[in-house]
Amino acid sequence: MSVVSVVGARPQFIKAFAVSRVLRTDHEEVLVHTGQHYDEELSDVFFNELGIPEPDYNLGVGSDTHGQQTATMLEGIEEILEAEEPDVVLLYGDTNSTLAGAIAATKIDPLVAHVEAGLRSYNREMPEEINRVLTDHASDLLFPPSESAANTLEQEGITEGIHIVGDVMYDTILWAQEVAEGESNMLNQVDVQEEEFVLSTVHRAANTDDPERLETIIDALSNAPLPVVLPIHPRTENRLREYGMWEKATAELEVIDPVGYLDFVRLLDGSERVATDSGGVQKEAFYLDTPCVTMRDETEWIETVESGWNVLVGADQDQIEKELRMNRYLEEKPAPYGDGNAASEIVDTLAKRIVEKPMSEQ
Ligand code: UD1
Ligand code: UDP
Repeated sequence: MSVVSVVGARPQFIKAFAVSRVLRTDHEEVLVHTGQHYDEELSDVFFNELGIPEPDYNLGVGSDTHGQQTATMLEGIEEILEAEEPDVVLLYGDTNSTLAGAIAATKIDPLVAHVEAGLRSYNREMPEEINRVLTDHASDLLFPPSESAANTLEQEGITEGIHIVGDVMYDTILWAQEVAEGESNMLNQVDVQEEEFVLSTVHRAANTDDPERLETIIDALSNAPLPVVLPIHPRTENRLREYGMWEKATAELEVIDPVGYLDFVRLLDGSERVATDSGGVQKEAFYLDTPCVTMRDETEWIETVESGWNVLVGADQDQIEKELRMNRYLEEKPAPYGDGNAASEIVDTLAKRIVEKPMSEQ
């Protein structure tokens, strides 16, 4: 089986890592990096430390408006698919790179497969929500991480090609937790005591592109009962500087450059609590038994909230501060996102489907 995998942004490198290492044992993979993320700290660091093979193609699209960025990717991916003629195009998550891959692939021959299918925030203001819905509806094979995500697809009329496989990020973190504990000395570098700091990330457009919302978040984090370590996404740094809030943020919080995956996992595992608007970080906190405060009004990862390990606080200063102070005694934790074998299940399902494909479609 030949597979073209499309990635472009930080979380997609981490997801593709899990699948790629299984896929490459018996099958051919051509890796396409759209170049949506290009800074060393947002891209190369993951390839180097996770040993992800060098991309076969890098489209180098860089940053732009949604339309321009997606269009440039679409054009590049189409050319690659025409040259490579893969059996499958594998897409991850909900970024503009995902959408471009879906549109390019669905108009050509290969099977289109979407990892992290069926997730919804039901907030159409989010660019990612549009990307997810369109990608799911353009896909032949859908890999939801949970029962609830599979139900969502069915409710939207998608009845074929759904395979609940669990979450590929769970596969990755099961491997990374121990490695990070042995290899990362990140806790020394940030000069905090284990279990005595809050780890925070902020990059969601709704939070960064609204000065009032961003200021509320910075103020709330500044009042946290423990030191706050904030590895800063370039988008957020740019906005803080633009709004004249950079000095305040760096004076009140321990703002550091984005870190590699193993260092981030070490921070996450060693923190008392996490305050984030990231999708991936909510799940990773759940996997590592770190209570999470999510600075959004809704989440796609509903099971983390239903189980009490995650709480939605929007950008409400009182709520953020209250939840960062609240004692949490959490013991019971369900396992809604599989058993850490999502990657193998994805590869097996794809291979089986390719073998079963009628000759006329091959
Ligand atoms: C993108 C995804 C988002 C995902 C996030 C992961 C979309 C619509 N958004 O958001 O779903 O959660 O990646 O981190 O696909 N920039 C740099 N260096 C880089 C990349 C970006 O400085 O290497 C800056 C640029 O100013 C750019 C801004 O960050 O304009 C936003 O980058 P972009 O890739 O458009 O979106 P993200 O906010 O990173
Ligand atoms: N991450 C990282 N270094 C950082 C911040 C995050 O390695 O400084 C990892 C984190 O472990 C998770 C992924 O990046 O696996 C999440 O990416 P992000 O929050 O940018 O995107 P989202 O998941 O919200 O799409």
